[in-house]
Amino acid sequence: MHTFSLLIIFLNFYPLFWCQMLPASIKKCRFGDTICIADTMNYVIRNFPKGIPEIGLKPLDAVSVKDVLLVDDAQVGVAWFQFKLIDQINYGFENTTITQIKGFDQDPTSSSMEIYGTIPSLTYKGQYIARGRMLWLVDVNATGESESDFQNFRFSLKLKVIPEYRYNKTYIKIYELVPDINIDRWIQWLDDFFYENTDLTIAMNRLFNENWVEFWNELEPSILRTFASVFRHIIDDIFEKVAYNDMFLPSKEAMGL
Ligand SMILES: *[C@@H]1O[C@H](CO)[C@@H](O)[C@H](O)[C@H]1NC(C)=O
Ligand SMILES: *[C@@H]1O[C@H](CO)[C@@H](O)[C@H](O)[C@H]1NC(C)=O
Ligand SMILES: *[C@@H]1O[C@H](CO)[C@@H](O)[C@H](O)[C@H]1NC(C)=O
Repeated sequence: MHTFSLLIIFLNFYPLFWCQMLPASIKKCRFGDTICIADTMNYVIRNFPKGIPEIGLKPLDAVSVKDVLLVDDAQVGVAWFQFKLIDQINYGFENTTITQIKGFDQDPTSSSMEIYGTIPSLTYKGQYIARGRMLWLVDVNATGESESDFQNFRFSLKLKVIPEYRYNKTYIKIYELVPDINIDRWIQWLDDFFYENTDLTIAMNRLFNENWVEFWNELEPSILRTFASVFRHIIDDIFEKVAYNDMFLPSKEAMGL
């Protein structure tokens, strides 16, 4: 009889052992207290650049990124270009400052969740593959190291989430993340763009850097898609591991007041 009731109690509480709690040093906030929430996010970013695996926070000082097909013209005509970034790592997320938060109410679906922030310098390092034909009929068939630096990277993320119920707790899952990004400058270096002609490689990189605004405008949809996936890579696991309510102080209703 005793064993049996112990078993019942154990089974009832068992899921609790699975639920991930925030480390005690992290100050929790009231639902919707957007100033407190921004402070807490900044505290976590500053103090845990290597992440917190238990709550699904990945290392922020080196974020690996899915391969990106940035430009993918059909191989026709006198000018086409295909450009792919592979094995890329983002450096600099550990220097993010969250500047503003909206939403994060008790009912996570009642208002739009928004996160605003800045990063002094966000760099992208990895390999690139470029294929193409330029107007002056130079064929491009290059691969090499690439490095990109987005300076004064300012972002806003608008999240739409759906609640998911597990073990009587509400978790949230992102179903849409819309980023908006502004930068002061984009500096890029592609090594070996013209493998046998260093001067031309330098000229091409200079052309890019002097006209980065045009490239940014042209590539913005692909860039935003890429960053949407990078930000989801950073955030998704946290929402997966930590129940939404556990991120906040207990509400008055929950305490029966
Ligand atoms: C992050 O900020 C620190 C301190 O300002 C700086 O030394 C470091 O280079 C920055 N990291 C990146 C990747 O920009
Ligand atoms: C491009 O270069 C790679 C090796 O660097 C080679 O295997 C491939 O055949 C080249 N493609 C074209 C279209 O020249
Ligand atoms: C969830 O809560 C309901 C009602 O409070 C309870 O009957 C049920 O046993 C709980 N389920 C779990 C898995 O804790």
